[in-house]
Amino acid sequence: MLLKGRNLVKSEDFSVEEIDQILSLSQNIIENPSKYSRVCEGKLLATLFYEPSTRTRLSFESAMCRLGGSVVGFSEPNSSSVSKGESLGDTIRTVSCYADAIVMRHPVAGSAEEATKYTEVPFINAGDGGNQHPTQTLTDLLTIKSLKGSLENHTIGLCGDLKNGRTVHSLVKSMSRYKGIKFIFISPDELKMPKYIKDAIQEQGHAYYETDNLDEVLGSLDILYMTRVQRERFENQEQYEKLKNYYILNKSKMQNARKDMLVMHPLPRVNEIDVDVDDDKRAVYFKQAKYGMFVRMALIMKLLGIKEVQNDLEEVAID
Ligand code: CP
Repeated sequence: MLLKGRNLVKSEDFSVEEIDQILSLSQNIIENPSKYSRVCEGKLLATLFYEPSTRTRLSFESAMCRLGGSVVGFSEPNSSSVSKGESLGDTIRTVSCYADAIVMRHPVAGSAEEATKYTEVPFINAGDGGNQHPTQTLTDLLTIKSLKGSLENHTIGLCGDLKNGRTVHSLVKSMSRYKGIKFIFISPDELKMPKYIKDAIQEQGHAYYETDNLDEVLGSLDILYMTRVQRERFENQEQYEKLKNYYILNKSKMQNARKDMLVMHPLPRVNEIDVDVDDDKRAVYFKQAKYGMFVRMALIMKLLGIKEVQNDLEEVAID
């Protein structure tokens, strides 16, 4: 199916083949960024952020600017008519009149699905509460494919707040569509991966293993995906204080990891990865943030129906 005009609310909205198209275009953009610098001239992206963000908002805005397009939006809902009580539906309907595509982050799970009822232009979920964050997943898939060469046959450990972390929900659902993936869920009892996600991966024929002990499994991992304990999702702050430092990956622990293991993290981090890991070549979380901009360039192009730029070889051949 064509990606032009589609919405992206959850990671399963695109088939494996469609994701492949986006990742291939991302890799082409990485190799030839200057060729894409004007392809979105005259197009406008709206970024509506009802919740704080550094990477997602700024990488979307950078992506659109690097494609030659423009950006409008808000990063603080109180500066919009939301503060006067305007509904989500009316906001989306209005912004649809101005922009060619809409990116929205919202604290309420399910708000992205709700927004798609009102949009007239492609709509992208930039994170809805503890539910999903599908463009972080595209970022993660591009990182794994670029640095490991394939999305198949990996043992992935996901560590930290697996209950509230929307990035891990989207990533697990997406990775369960590839062959030979083993999931290891590493969390305290209070922050375990939700049952509906575990059921979904079993339906795809994958095994998973759960533990609260990172040291026990670290040496068996191809990828360690660390996550922050999501303070903003806790009703009981005492419980947050109890759990916030449950896992701290540091240089000394990294000695027990494989030489080619990737340490990924959607960021922001708090304490869960010590800064002494940052210089380790296996720590790829800032590289991952950069891949996020390229994959969002590709996603914007695909949803707007912008044609891929031919490479040099083809242009010479045509001439
Ligand atoms: N990874 C991620 O979603 O980061 P931000 O919250 O800074 O956008």
